[in-house]
Amino acid sequence: MSEVILVTGASAGFGEAIARLFVSKGYRVIGAARRQDKLRDLAHELGERFYPLQMDVSDKDSVDKALALLPKDWSKISLLVNNAGLALGLDKAYEADFKDWETMIMTNVMGLSYLTRKLLPQMVAAKEGYIINIGSTAGSYPYPGGNVYGATKAFVKQFSLNLRADLAGSHVRVSTIEPGLCGGTEFSKVRFKGDADRAKQVYEGVSSLQPEDIANAVLWLFQQPKHVNVNRLELMPVSQSFGPWHLAED
Ligand SMILES: NC(=O)c1ccc[n+]([C@@H]2O[C@H](COP(=O)([O-])OP(=O)(O)OC[C@H]3O[C@@H](n4cnc5c(N)ncnc54)[C@H](OP(=O)(O)O)[C@@H]3O)[C@@H](O)[C@H]2O)c1
Repeated sequence: MSEVILVTGASAGFGEAIARLFVSKGYRVIGAARRQDKLRDLAHELGERFYPLQMDVSDKDSVDKALALLPKDWSKISLLVNNAGLALGLDKAYEADFKDWETMIMTNVMGLSYLTRKLLPQMVAAKEGYIINIGSTAGSYPYPGGNVYGATKAFVKQFSLNLRADLAGSHVRVSTIEPGLCGGTEFSKVRFKGDADRAKQVYEGVSSLQPEDIANAVLWLFQQPKHVNVNRLELMPVSQSFGPWHLAED
Protein backbone atom coordinates (compact mmCIF):
# COMPACT_ATOMS: atom_id res chain seq x y z
CA MET A 1 0.00 0.00 0.00
CA SER A 2 1.40 3.39 -0.97
CA GLU A 3 1.74 6.27 1.49
CA VAL A 4 -1.27 8.51 2.15
CA ILE A 5 -1.23 12.28 1.96
CA LEU A 6 -4.08 14.50 3.10
CA VAL A 7 -4.45 17.83 1.31
CA THR A 8 -7.05 20.38 2.35
CA GLY A 9 -8.53 22.66 -0.28
CA ALA A 10 -8.33 19.96 -2.94
CA SER A 11 -11.34 21.19 -4.92
CA ALA A 12 -9.41 23.98 -6.69
CA GLY A 13 -6.08 25.68 -7.24
CA PHE A 14 -2.98 24.43 -5.42
CA GLY A 15 -4.77 21.60 -3.64
CA GLU A 16 -6.16 20.16 -6.86
CA ALA A 17 -2.71 20.36 -8.51
CA ILE A 18 -1.09 18.71 -5.48
CA ALA A 19 -3.66 15.89 -5.57
CA ARG A 20 -3.09 15.30 -9.30
CA LEU A 21 0.70 15.29 -9.00
CA PHE A 22 0.86 12.97 -5.99
CA VAL A 23 -1.61 10.49 -7.51
CA SER A 24 0.43 10.53 -10.74
CA LYS A 25 3.51 9.64 -8.66
CA GLY A 26 1.78 6.62 -7.11
CA TYR A 27 0.77 8.06 -3.73
CA ARG A 28 -2.74 7.85 -2.29
CA VAL A 29 -4.38 11.24 -1.71
CA ILE A 30 -7.22 12.24 0.58
CA GLY A 31 -8.60 15.45 -0.87
CA ALA A 32 -10.62 17.59 1.53
CA ALA A 33 -12.83 20.57 0.77
CA ARG A 34 -16.41 21.79 1.19
CA ARG A 35 -17.62 21.40 -2.42
CA GLN A 36 -18.52 17.76 -2.85
CA ASP A 37 -19.29 18.05 -6.59
CA LYS A 38 -15.75 19.26 -7.33
CA LEU A 39 -14.25 16.48 -5.22
CA ARG A 40 -16.46 13.94 -6.95
CA ASP A 41 -15.25 15.11 -10.38
CA LEU A 42 -11.66 14.82 -9.22
CA ALA A 43 -12.30 11.35 -7.81
CA HIS A 44 -13.76 10.37 -11.15
CA GLU A 45 -10.63 11.62 -12.93
CA LEU A 46 -8.02 10.27 -10.50
CA GLY A 47 -9.55 6.91 -9.66
CA GLU A 48 -9.07 4.72 -6.61
CA ARG A 49 -5.90 6.44 -5.36
CA PHE A 50 -7.99 9.56 -4.58
CA TYR A 51 -10.32 9.66 -1.57
CA PRO A 52 -12.73 12.61 -1.53
CA LEU A 53 -13.46 13.88 1.98
CA GLN A 54 -15.97 16.64 2.46
CA MET A 55 -15.07 18.92 5.36
CA ASP A 56 -15.26 22.53 6.39
CA VAL A 57 -11.90 23.16 8.04
CA SER A 58 -13.28 26.17 9.90
CA ASP A 59 -15.71 23.91 11.77
CA LYS A 60 -14.04 21.65 14.33
CA ASP A 61 -16.97 19.18 14.39
CA SER A 62 -16.89 18.88 10.62
CA VAL A 63 -13.14 18.09 10.75
CA ASP A 64 -13.64 15.52 13.53
CA LYS A 65 -16.56 13.82 11.77
CA ALA A 66 -14.82 13.70 8.38
CA LEU A 67 -11.62 12.20 9.79
CA ALA A 68 -13.62 9.62 11.74
CA LEU A 69 -15.12 8.43 8.43
CA LEU A 70 -11.76 7.47 6.94
CA PRO A 71 -11.37 3.75 6.31
CA LYS A 72 -8.63 2.15 8.41
CA ASP A 73 -6.23 1.67 5.50
CA TRP A 74 -6.46 5.41 4.72
CA SER A 75 -6.01 6.64 8.27
CA LYS A 76 -2.21 6.58 8.61
CA ILE A 77 -1.29 9.90 7.06
CA SER A 78 2.33 10.46 6.06
CA LEU A 79 1.91 14.03 4.88
CA LEU A 80 -0.66 16.66 5.83
CA VAL A 81 -0.77 19.64 3.49
CA ASN A 82 -2.68 22.43 5.22
CA ASN A 83 -3.57 24.32 2.07
CA ALA A 84 -7.24 25.36 2.44
CA GLY A 85 -7.37 29.08 2.86
CA LEU A 86 -8.57 32.33 1.46
CA ALA A 87 -8.23 36.08 1.29
CA LEU A 88 -11.42 38.15 1.41
CA GLY A 89 -11.48 41.77 0.28
CA LEU A 90 -8.72 44.29 -0.23
CA ASP A 91 -10.13 47.14 1.81
CA LYS A 92 -8.22 49.24 4.27
CA ALA A 93 -8.45 48.00 7.87
CA TYR A 94 -10.72 50.89 8.84
CA GLU A 95 -13.19 50.00 6.06
CA ALA A 96 -12.97 46.19 5.86
CA ASP A 97 -15.92 43.91 6.61
CA PHE A 98 -15.29 42.33 10.00
CA LYS A 99 -17.11 39.16 8.91
CA ASP A 100 -14.41 38.70 6.24
CA TRP A 101 -11.77 38.94 8.94
CA GLU A 102 -13.56 36.30 11.01
CA THR A 103 -13.83 33.94 8.03
CA MET A 104 -10.13 34.32 7.20
CA ILE A 105 -9.09 33.71 10.80
CA MET A 106 -11.44 30.73 11.19
CA THR A 107 -10.16 29.15 7.97
CA ASN A 108 -6.48 30.09 7.69
CA VAL A 109 -5.66 30.00 11.41
CA MET A 110 -8.23 27.84 13.21
CA GLY A 111 -8.74 25.34 10.37
CA LEU A 112 -5.02 24.78 9.98
CA SER A 113 -4.69 24.46 13.76
CA TYR A 114 -7.55 21.92 14.06
CA LEU A 115 -6.07 19.64 11.42
CA THR A 116 -2.58 19.93 12.86
CA ARG A 117 -3.65 19.25 16.44
CA LYS A 118 -5.76 16.31 15.30
CA LEU A 119 -3.09 14.55 13.20
CA LEU A 120 0.13 15.36 15.07
CA PRO A 121 -0.29 12.76 17.85
CA GLN A 122 -0.35 9.83 15.39
CA MET A 123 2.74 11.20 13.63
CA VAL A 124 4.62 11.66 16.90
CA ALA A 125 3.64 8.14 18.02
CA ALA A 126 4.79 6.72 14.68
CA LYS A 127 8.03 8.74 14.90
CA GLU A 128 7.49 9.92 11.32
CA GLY A 129 5.27 12.25 9.37
CA TYR A 130 5.33 15.59 7.67
CA ILE A 131 3.19 18.72 7.83
CA ILE A 132 3.48 21.26 5.04
CA ASN A 133 1.62 24.48 5.71
CA ILE A 134 0.78 26.85 2.88
CA GLY A 135 1.67 30.34 4.00
CA SER A 136 2.23 33.31 1.72
CA THR A 137 4.67 36.10 1.01
CA ALA A 138 1.83 38.17 2.55
CA GLY A 139 2.91 36.70 5.90
CA SER A 140 6.28 38.44 5.62
CA TYR A 141 5.70 41.55 3.52
CA PRO A 142 2.77 43.89 4.19
CA TYR A 143 0.72 45.46 1.42
CA PRO A 144 -2.24 47.85 1.50
CA GLY A 145 -5.46 45.94 2.13
CA GLY A 146 -3.58 42.79 3.14
CA ASN A 147 -4.26 43.46 6.84
CA VAL A 148 -5.83 40.31 8.35
CA TYR A 149 -4.97 38.01 5.44
CA GLY A 150 -1.25 38.79 5.86
CA ALA A 151 -1.58 38.39 9.61
CA THR A 152 -3.11 34.91 9.24
CA LYS A 153 -0.19 33.91 7.04
CA ALA A 154 2.30 35.32 9.56
CA PHE A 155 0.59 33.00 12.05
CA VAL A 156 1.14 30.07 9.68
CA LYS A 157 4.86 30.85 9.44
CA GLN A 158 5.43 31.34 13.16
CA PHE A 159 3.21 28.42 14.20
CA SER A 160 5.21 26.16 11.89
CA LEU A 161 8.52 27.30 13.35
CA ASN A 162 7.17 26.76 16.87
CA LEU A 163 6.00 23.27 15.88
CA ARG A 164 9.58 22.56 14.88
CA ALA A 165 10.64 23.50 18.39
CA ASP A 166 8.06 21.18 20.00
CA LEU A 167 8.81 18.34 17.59
CA ALA A 168 12.56 18.21 18.17
CA GLY A 169 13.53 14.55 18.45
CA SER A 170 10.18 13.28 17.11
CA HIS A 171 11.34 12.82 13.49
CA VAL A 172 8.23 14.71 12.35
CA ARG A 173 9.00 17.35 9.73
CA VAL A 174 7.30 20.73 9.28
CA SER A 175 7.71 23.25 6.47
CA THR A 176 5.93 26.28 5.13
CA ILE A 177 5.65 27.10 1.47
CA GLU A 178 5.20 30.83 1.03
CA PRO A 179 4.15 31.69 -2.52
CA GLY A 180 3.85 35.10 -4.09
CA LEU A 181 1.52 35.85 -6.99
CA CYS A 182 0.05 32.66 -8.40
CA GLY A 183 -2.52 32.50 -11.19
CA GLY A 184 -4.67 29.62 -12.40
CA THR A 185 -6.59 29.37 -9.13
CA GLU A 186 -9.85 30.71 -7.69
CA PHE A 187 -7.95 32.82 -5.15
CA SER A 188 -8.68 36.30 -6.58
CA LYS A 189 -12.22 35.38 -7.62
CA VAL A 190 -12.87 34.41 -4.01
CA ARG A 191 -11.11 37.54 -2.73
CA PHE A 192 -13.29 39.77 -4.94
CA LYS A 193 -16.49 37.82 -4.12
CA GLY A 194 -17.07 36.37 -7.57
CA ASP A 195 -16.04 39.45 -9.61
CA ALA A 196 -14.24 37.54 -12.38
CA ASP A 197 -13.18 40.68 -14.32
CA ARG A 198 -11.49 42.23 -11.30
CA ALA A 199 -9.86 38.88 -10.52
CA LYS A 200 -8.53 38.58 -14.08
CA GLN A 201 -6.90 42.00 -13.92
CA VAL A 202 -4.61 40.84 -11.09
CA TYR A 203 -2.71 38.56 -13.49
CA GLU A 204 -2.85 40.63 -16.68
CA GLY A 205 0.47 41.23 -18.42
CA VAL A 206 2.58 39.25 -15.92
CA SER A 207 3.79 35.67 -15.81
CA SER A 208 2.63 34.50 -12.41
CA LEU A 209 3.39 31.24 -10.63
CA GLN A 210 1.07 28.36 -11.51
CA PRO A 211 -0.54 25.78 -9.19
CA GLU A 212 1.75 23.09 -10.67
CA ASP A 213 4.79 25.06 -9.41
CA ILE A 214 3.44 24.81 -5.87
CA ALA A 215 2.61 21.12 -6.32
CA ASN A 216 6.20 20.50 -7.51
CA ALA A 217 7.52 22.28 -4.43
CA VAL A 218 5.37 20.10 -2.14
CA LEU A 219 6.57 16.93 -3.86
CA TRP A 220 10.21 18.05 -3.74
CA LEU A 221 9.97 18.79 -0.02
CA PHE A 222 8.28 15.46 0.69
CA GLN A 223 10.91 13.52 -1.22
CA GLN A 224 13.89 15.05 0.55
CA PRO A 225 15.78 12.57 2.74
CA LYS A 226 14.02 12.11 6.09
CA HIS A 227 16.84 13.82 8.01
CA VAL A 228 16.32 17.07 6.05
CA ASN A 229 13.86 19.73 7.23
CA VAL A 230 13.34 22.76 5.02
CA ASN A 231 11.85 25.28 7.43
CA ARG A 232 10.51 27.81 4.91
CA LEU A 233 10.33 27.89 1.15
CA GLU A 234 9.46 31.28 -0.34
CA LEU A 235 8.64 31.44 -4.04
CA MET A 236 7.77 34.31 -6.36
CA PRO A 237 7.37 34.59 -10.09
CA VAL A 238 10.39 36.33 -11.61
CA SER A 239 8.06 39.18 -12.58
CA GLN A 240 7.28 39.94 -8.94
CA SER A 241 9.69 41.90 -6.78
CA PHE A 242 9.90 44.55 -4.05
CA GLY A 243 8.81 48.19 -4.02
CA PRO A 244 10.43 51.16 -2.29
CA TRP A 245 9.42 52.19 1.23
CA HIS A 246 6.23 54.18 1.07
CA LEU A 247 6.32 57.68 2.52
CA ALA A 248 2.97 59.44 2.86
CA GLU A 249 2.97 63.24 2.82
CA ASP A 250 1.65 64.82 6.04
N1 LIG B 1 -3.07 32.00 -5.37
C1 LIG B 1 -2.17 32.74 -4.76
O1 LIG B 1 -1.67 33.74 -5.34
C2 LIG B 1 -1.68 32.38 -3.39
C3 LIG B 1 -0.46 32.94 -2.97
C4 LIG B 1 0.00 32.63 -1.70
C5 LIG B 1 -0.69 31.76 -0.89
N2 LIG B 1 -1.88 31.23 -1.31
C6 LIG B 1 -2.57 30.32 -0.39
O2 LIG B 1 -2.63 29.05 -1.01
C7 LIG B 1 -3.75 28.32 -0.53
C8 LIG B 1 -4.55 27.81 -1.72
O3 LIG B 1 -4.95 28.92 -2.51
P1 LIG B 1 -5.43 28.79 -4.01
O4 LIG B 1 -4.79 29.90 -4.74
O5 LIG B 1 -5.27 27.41 -4.50
O6 LIG B 1 -6.98 29.19 -3.82
P2 LIG B 1 -8.33 28.55 -4.40
O7 LIG B 1 -8.16 28.17 -5.83
O8 LIG B 1 -9.40 29.53 -4.04
O9 LIG B 1 -8.50 27.22 -3.54
C9 LIG B 1 -8.78 27.29 -2.16
C10 LIG B 1 -9.22 25.93 -1.68
O10 LIG B 1 -9.48 26.02 -0.27
C11 LIG B 1 -10.73 25.41 -0.01
N3 LIG B 1 -11.36 25.99 1.16
C12 LIG B 1 -11.63 27.29 1.41
N4 LIG B 1 -12.26 27.41 2.57
C13 LIG B 1 -12.42 26.16 3.07
C14 LIG B 1 -13.01 25.61 4.23
N5 LIG B 1 -13.61 26.39 5.16
N6 LIG B 1 -12.98 24.27 4.42
C15 LIG B 1 -12.41 23.47 3.51
N7 LIG B 1 -11.82 23.92 2.39
C16 LIG B 1 -11.85 25.26 2.17
C17 LIG B 1 -11.55 25.61 -1.29
O11 LIG B 1 -12.51 24.58 -1.42
P3 LIG B 1 -14.08 24.70 -1.14
O12 LIG B 1 -14.51 26.07 -1.53
O13 LIG B 1 -14.66 23.61 -2.00
O14 LIG B 1 -14.22 24.42 0.32
C18 LIG B 1 -10.47 25.44 -2.35
O15 LIG B 1 -10.32 24.07 -2.64
C19 LIG B 1 -4.51 29.28 0.38
O16 LIG B 1 -4.17 29.01 1.71
C20 LIG B 1 -4.00 30.66 -0.04
O17 LIG B 1 -4.10 31.58 1.00
C21 LIG B 1 -2.39 31.51 -2.55
